[in-house]
Amino acid sequence: MSESSRPLHIVLGVGAGIAAYKVASLLRIFTEAGHDVVVVPTPSALNFVGSATWEALSGHPVISEVWDNVSDVPHVRIGKAADLVVVAPATADLLSRAANGAANDLLTNVLLTATCPIVYAPAMHTEMWLNPATQANVATLRERGSIVLDPAVGRLTGDDSGPGRMNEPSDIAQVALAQVHRTNELAGKHVVITAGGTREYLDPVRFLGNRSSGKQGIALAQVAYERGAHVTVIAANVAEQLPSGCTVIRVETTAELEAAVVGTTADVVIMAAAVADYAPVTISETKMKKSDGGQSPVIELKRTPDILRELVTRRDSEGREQVIVGFAAETGDSQGTVSDHGRAKLASKKCDVLVINDVSGDNVFGQETNEVLIIAKDSSTEQHVARASKRVVANAVWDTVAKLLQ
Ligand code: C5P
Repeated sequence: MSESSRPLHIVLGVGAGIAAYKVASLLRIFTEAGHDVVVVPTPSALNFVGSATWEALSGHPVISEVWDNVSDVPHVRIGKAADLVVVAPATADLLSRAANGAANDLLTNVLLTATCPIVYAPAMHTEMWLNPATQANVATLRERGSIVLDPAVGRLTGDDSGPGRMNEPSDIAQVALAQVHRTNELAGKHVVITAGGTREYLDPVRFLGNRSSGKQGIALAQVAYERGAHVTVIAANVAEQLPSGCTVIRVETTAELEAAVVGTTADVVIMAAAVADYAPVTISETKMKKSDGGQSPVIELKRTPDILRELVTRRDSEGREQVIVGFAAETGDSQGTVSDHGRAKLASKKCDVLVINDVSGDNVFGQETNEVLIIAKDSSTEQHVARASKRVVANAVWDTVAKLLQ
């Protein structure tokens, strides 16, 4: 039996959130893969989904207090025997108690005695997630080596929506199992990801910009963090919530982005940002006035430096090991297909991997999903990723990069 198919002893800690009902699917994913799962809900979580459901699906009795089955010393035994602990949904209260080392129910005792990987899948209202108290608890748990997923963005329990939705059970299972099987092949690696789109100013209030939201770059950063990397995100005008497990550098212009990324000795650089190709030759220091009835202004543009190519040139001249990934937005035309243009771009940019978006339809910018072609310089990969969440695309990109890092 290979290491990755070894049956595991998994503790599934369930917090008191409405997303508990989705954790039944997570439990099924684990049991159907042959793993032995003990469910430890907090006492309040049983208000959402009762013991009968967990017992029937796991095949084990369910206890949630330290006062149950005392002779069996479950508060020590369960944590010590675990290969993996997954906490879903991880509520604000549960994250707080875990960060503070509380031991006031069975689950928090298990968290204190477990020596295996622990993965938290938070779910709560946006305000609770963004509250500095919660963010500080998350930072503490991450510093101590636990994986705390960033919650997904979307519809919450009421009419509200925003960051706070529990990640999909299949995503949680994938991240959690990777921690045990050491498929987190980015452990110890530093990766830099540019996200968003640069702006080139005409005057103090006007700029030339583009429609990139930064969502694909954010998904790449989240997946890299979950695979064990130390992640730096260089965010160009990103309005979205940035991943909390990463170092963030905010930039606006192409020149600022260039200054932030060129010279990095990170193991991997992913240029997911839409960088302006042209910038105004002059930037007016004062707001340009419009003259009614006068001539329309003509704006003279100059090429911006090609940062991706600069990164490749520097790496090669310094003889460093570094995987460099570019993104390309292409449309098919009379000169060739999207794939033809992508290939030509890979040859001219000389990066290791190019991720090509077909932007012919209006199906990329600001969307939750993406469809890409991933091509690698050494022809080791040519993968079409059919329309899927930006996380799925991010996983496919990292699979390709991981092969090159080996
Ligand atoms: O040349 P094009 O803009 O299509 O190439 C896209 C790729 O090149 C992206 O990875 C983008 O981040 C990068 N790029 C760059 N510097 C520029 C323009 C694009 O690094 N000035």
